[in-house]
Amino acid sequence: MNILGIETSCDETAAAVVKDGREVLSSVIASQIEEHKIYGGVVPEIASRRHSEAISAVTEKALSDAGLTLDEIDAIAVTYAPGLIGALLVGVNFAKGLALSSGKPLVPVHHLRGHIASNYITNKELQPSFLCLVVSGGHSHIIEAEDYTRLKVIGRTRDDAAGEAFDKAARAMGIPYPGGVHLDEIAENGDDTAYKLPRPRVEGAPLDFSFSGLKTAVINLLHNAGQKNESIDIANLAASYRKAVVDLLTGNFLLAARELGTNRLVVAGGVSANRLLRRRLKELEDKGFEIYMPALDLCGDNAAMIAAQGYYELLAGNTAGMELNAHAQRDIS
Ligand code: KG4
Ligand code: ZN
Repeated sequence: MNILGIETSCDETAAAVVKDGREVLSSVIASQIEEHKIYGGVVPEIASRRHSEAISAVTEKALSDAGLTLDEIDAIAVTYAPGLIGALLVGVNFAKGLALSSGKPLVPVHHLRGHIASNYITNKELQPSFLCLVVSGGHSHIIEAEDYTRLKVIGRTRDDAAGEAFDKAARAMGIPYPGGVHLDEIAENGDDTAYKLPRPRVEGAPLDFSFSGLKTAVINLLHNAGQKNESIDIANLAASYRKAVVDLLTGNFLLAARELGTNRLVVAGGVSANRLLRRRLKELEDKGFEIYMPALDLCGDNAAMIAAQGYYELLAGNTAGMELNAHAQRDIS
């Protein structure tokens, strides 16, 4: 079955065709990153406008790269939540138009379910059940995937998401946007023992995350050094900070694995591209864990992951009519 996927939840206009949830026939991404860079973050109004301008051409290219016409597509999958509401609406309305005019089923896909499905493309043998750490710019969740479409959040962030924590700390360190990616690169050449940073825990909720105290610790450290005219080694601070975030992520993830008695671990979302996180997870293979991660080009936002999850949603009968709306926030379950 060929599924056309459409993704416009943030600053990437993307369309892709995926066969049977696993084989990418085409994947087109128009990134707006350069335009948002000058503002130091995504400007929602600009994002929506650029999606509207790009969506037709991006979708046409996805079809032509796959060598298919709309007639040869079996269903249209679209990200309907969560994300920037104006950005989501562009994709949802475009997908509704395509579904209505072609008579094909319309399949709403939750963005984080899509991120998880990027693993089905990279790891052809992977099947639920598993435990998944979903770490993106807006979310940090530990999710129990009982099946392709039965997902339960068992741990979540109480404040910043992991990607947000990287981006905000990077900004405070004077690292250019997009901060998380650059901080990761700079940290590769730093000493991660140079600065002592806290590992905040959430009282009474051991699987939940809290990153805001860590971010504040970095901001205070920079502020104090500035007042005393002391210099800070940014590579060392980036490395120390990255280690603290990754310690928190892997600590809770392993605790959840022990609690649930599972050894099949999956990571997904933009932060799954983080070099240290990938190394630390990979090391767990020696301890008897099965570790799955998306290929680097599937970690960030793309539409192939939406088409992949769309396939499993369609099999489960999760289709929508013209009443489908976009939602800025919506639980994954
Ligand atoms: O999943 P994603 O592309 O978009 C959302 O759904 O939010 O995630 C974007 C987030 C950003 O916060 C970005 O800084 C972070 O992922 N990110 C990274 C790395 N690559 C992307 N964070 C740390 N290390 C990286 N290598
Ligand atoms: Zn995302």
